[in-house]
Amino acid sequence: MPSGEIMTTLSFTARKIDRIAEHKTPMLVVPMFEDHVLGEDLDRIDAQFGGALSQTLALGDFSAKPGSHVALAGNKSIQRVIMIGCGVAASFDTAAQHKFAETAATAMAKGKARDATLNLASLPVTSADLGTILEVFAKHVTMACYVYDATIAKPKETPVLKKVTVNAGAILSPAKTKGPLGVGQAIGEGTNLTRNLVNLPGNVCTPRYLSQQGRSLAKRYESIKTTVLGEKKMQELGMGSLLSVGHGSDQESQLIIMEYSGGKAKDAPYALVGKGITFDTGGISLKPGMKMDEMKFDMGGAGSVFGTLQAIADMKLPINVVGVVAAAENMPSGRATKPGDVVKSMSGKTIEILNTDAEGRLVLCDALTYVGRYKPREVVDIATLTGAIIVALGNLATGIFANDDDLANALLDAGNKSNDRGWQLPIWDDYQMQLDSRFADVANIGTGGAGSVTAACFLARFAEKYKWAHLDVAGSAFSSSPKGATGRPVPMLVEYLRARAGR
Ligand code: BES
Ligand code: MN
Ligand code: ZN
Repeated sequence: MPSGEIMTTLSFTARKIDRIAEHKTPMLVVPMFEDHVLGEDLDRIDAQFGGALSQTLALGDFSAKPGSHVALAGNKSIQRVIMIGCGVAASFDTAAQHKFAETAATAMAKGKARDATLNLASLPVTSADLGTILEVFAKHVTMACYVYDATIAKPKETPVLKKVTVNAGAILSPAKTKGPLGVGQAIGEGTNLTRNLVNLPGNVCTPRYLSQQGRSLAKRYESIKTTVLGEKKMQELGMGSLLSVGHGSDQESQLIIMEYSGGKAKDAPYALVGKGITFDTGGISLKPGMKMDEMKFDMGGAGSVFGTLQAIADMKLPINVVGVVAAAENMPSGRATKPGDVVKSMSGKTIEILNTDAEGRLVLCDALTYVGRYKPREVVDIATLTGAIIVALGNLATGIFANDDDLANALLDAGNKSNDRGWQLPIWDDYQMQLDSRFADVANIGTGGAGSVTAACFLARFAEKYKWAHLDVAGSAFSSSPKGATGRPVPMLVEYLRARAGR
């Protein structure tokens, strides 16, 4: 069985290189502006290369627009130069800086050099901006080197890049360069862990497989402690809603609790609660066969909890965080929940299950009740909850719902900062009546439109005791073409926790 663990072999080094033209490297990556300012360093390289750089610019083949790049063959000591388009120097703003970092990272990961040097000594930015660029750059290089091969027998062509050297010249000292590079790499690796878990097929990534992932995090990080509750324990806790989802499956449902302790022992934790449906057939309310394979991605929320915890443990964030994953497989069978069945949740509220395909909220509501015992400062749940959020927002924005404006704004800010953006939708009380049931305290589906809102409203009823937000990542956690997990919203979550930790 594939291990699902991904090896990290990339190393980032920061060095001050005084004469870049005399530096020996298989690949030198340099920013290039539309206004053709080469600068002293590049003038020298240009001269060494017989004017190849300035000539390429003069010919107009390379626009130097943000997102563009061109590779030039070099000489024996600098084997190739990759010029990265940065646009006009005067408008090298945050967006252009992010684009530059991403383009440089992708070009380096796609190249055929084992070692590469990125020269940032002449960038017209402040040291704060350069810190961000380095972080974003390290994140993108790490992400660009990810290859899914867990279930592929014939080895794929994998990136050869192993060592990245960054010269920040006088803008940032090598010591100060290391921090952002390390943080970016931690976020990239956390995102890759999430992508890998989410990409695994449902026959490999089962609820028990996710438990193993939780245990493996605890083994690798002293700061993480993992506890797994099986069906018997959950029965004792009265989690009738969560358990009803796995009834039709031969795979045992699991509640995976991971406690990260980076703060003081008495600090109340932040909580992350992930939907971990390892496969969603819809149950008796069976989904159509077309694209049903994509329902292996239905543990995307859970996947992001693992990735975020790994990243913040690597970053040693000085806060406490508890990650709870509600894992189950939603299958039809003779024992499966039927439409009209009424179950009792851990909160005591009874739920009429009118549609067994609205199962995410059923596992989450018990996990939300459970997490209350930590008296958390804030709770964020993450779930591939509704197809309706794709209708509303497409794949670009994560849907954000919250019972607290400050928390909603913190997540919106974190999304903007990490370029892993979200957009807020309402959970007004006026929507709640859609969930009224004649046979239980609440129904698991709404009667009208706004499917993402009523799903969030259902969850809100189980999150009244604390500040809570819900991220609907059905659109953002994976893409249909090319098919695969994006690792979102790990960057947003890490940024949010970082802000909460004051880092
Ligand atoms: N996992 C799905 C939501 C989903 C759909 C995620 C498409 C990614 C892509 C969820 O469990 C579901 O089936 N939701 C239903 C809810 C409905 C029955 C109220 C949906 O969106 O159709
Ligand atoms: Mn479903
Ligand atoms: Zn689902």
